[in-house]
Amino acid sequence: MTIDYKVKDLSLAAAGRHQIRLAEHEMPGLMALREEFGESQPLAGARIAGSLHMTVQTAVLIETLTALGAEVRWASCNIFSTQDEAAAAIVVGKGTPEDPQGVPVFAWKGETLEEYWWTAEQILTWPGAAENPALGPNMILDDGGDATLLLHKGVEFEAAGAVPSASADDPHEFTIILDVLRASLAKDPQKFTRVAGGIRGVTEETTTGVHRLYQLAEQGQLLFPAINVNDAVTKSKFDNKYGIRHSLPDGINRATDVLMGGKTAVVCGYGDVGKGAAEALRGQGARVVVTEIDPICALQAAMDGYQVTTLDKVVGEGHIFITTTGNKDVIMASDMVRMRDKAIVGNIGHFDNEIDMAGLAKVAGVQKVEIKPQVHEWVFEAGSDAERSIIVLSEGRLLNLGNATGHPSFVMSNSFANQTIAQIELFTKHGKPAAGSATGEPEYAKQVYVLPKVLDEKVARLHLDALGVELSELTKEQAEYLGVDVAGPYKPDHYRY
Ligand code: NAI
Repeated sequence: MTIDYKVKDLSLAAAGRHQIRLAEHEMPGLMALREEFGESQPLAGARIAGSLHMTVQTAVLIETLTALGAEVRWASCNIFSTQDEAAAAIVVGKGTPEDPQGVPVFAWKGETLEEYWWTAEQILTWPGAAENPALGPNMILDDGGDATLLLHKGVEFEAAGAVPSASADDPHEFTIILDVLRASLAKDPQKFTRVAGGIRGVTEETTTGVHRLYQLAEQGQLLFPAINVNDAVTKSKFDNKYGIRHSLPDGINRATDVLMGGKTAVVCGYGDVGKGAAEALRGQGARVVVTEIDPICALQAAMDGYQVTTLDKVVGEGHIFITTTGNKDVIMASDMVRMRDKAIVGNIGHFDNEIDMAGLAKVAGVQKVEIKPQVHEWVFEAGSDAERSIIVLSEGRLLNLGNATGHPSFVMSNSFANQTIAQIELFTKHGKPAAGSATGEPEYAKQVYVLPKVLDEKVARLHLDALGVELSELTKEQAEYLGVDVAGPYKPDHYRY
């Protein structure tokens, strides 16, 4: 059978396969799930549309999902985050570059935005599904919510019978989404409605995507059940923090090679990602200054020993600026023009609207110089005595994946074990009542759920041996005293780790 795909170069597959093999060794959670569920095939019949950074670690996730029985189509959730060798290896699978037999992947490093949204549509477009909807996707695995957004917008406009024109306030990217949907509507007026009707649920990887899902659910517009993977403790308290602690300095180093020690680094936001970012920069000897809008997180940063102040006060002082907020308009063009010469500006939050790139391009007389792909110098007042420049990483997109290769395998094994378990939950429990339910209501309705704590603990357990961790065990008496089961879960749902 020939598979459809679009990646950079299938001859990179052998290099990708070597990296995947080494990553498997560092991903004990995913490998344990293959062992546990390989035979029972809980994902047999699942057709998963995946939108998540197409890295080596994601390759191991994809091959875990297929090992559990799923069929998969995949795109990256960012234009710069694909590792082309991993994408090639996944397409080739057990075949050869001449005769690829793996998974249809639509991802390459350096997509344009038009290409990006084309890839998003491809994962929702399954061969034969236009004639037979049963051949379409029935699960979504999302990171940042773009696949879910495209589907929801498609359904909305198909119901209205037309796709509106973008308003002047809409970001440029939204006009591209509207173009994709307009072309689809003209060709197949019920395509997204048909696809959405078959979806059993979505599992969402990151803070920003989860935020979008809760908004949809609150408005009563969520079309299918969702599991918030991000807020599994073994995801956000590990990937967002320890993953960033590793991949932020990796991105800064590969992009600039600048010595961080002794420099002033400004971290905007002190949530999970900000905590990992600040710790990494301090670990390199930088003097770290934090900005926050939440008094609790600001107090945490202060008690962790960081100066907390406003960007306005520190903008002329910092050598390195990193946004970690998941918010928009955090560093504006009016801030960047006040920065010191050769200040480095990067974002590690999900979307590129944290840094005002559009405003930067409009600064009078500014010149953009490509140092190398994903590293740009923006020169102000070129040729005058006041000439200065700043270095912007990955054009304001998440720099750990744009300038480096994202988080390391071991931490992603935690995140992706949660993803796999969440896919099994939503796929196998689709429409079924919860065990012991008196009402017969389905366990998963059109709401957003987190995984039960016992599964969170399971994910952590799967990673202990590899680190030589020896766990103490509760006695029966101690368990009774605490009011928990000897086998867990050990904490109430409201406990904050
Ligand atoms: P979070 O909600 O825990 O932290 C964000 C923090 O930023 C909050 O404490 C909030 O109060 C603060 N904040 C919001 N607006 C601000 C402003 N204007 N100035 C200063 N602080 C502000 O979220 P989390 O989990 O830390 O994620 C942050 C972003 O990073 C999200 O977009 C998430 O999707 C993304 N992410 C990126 C990863 C990567 O590999 N690059 C990995 C995990 C998450």
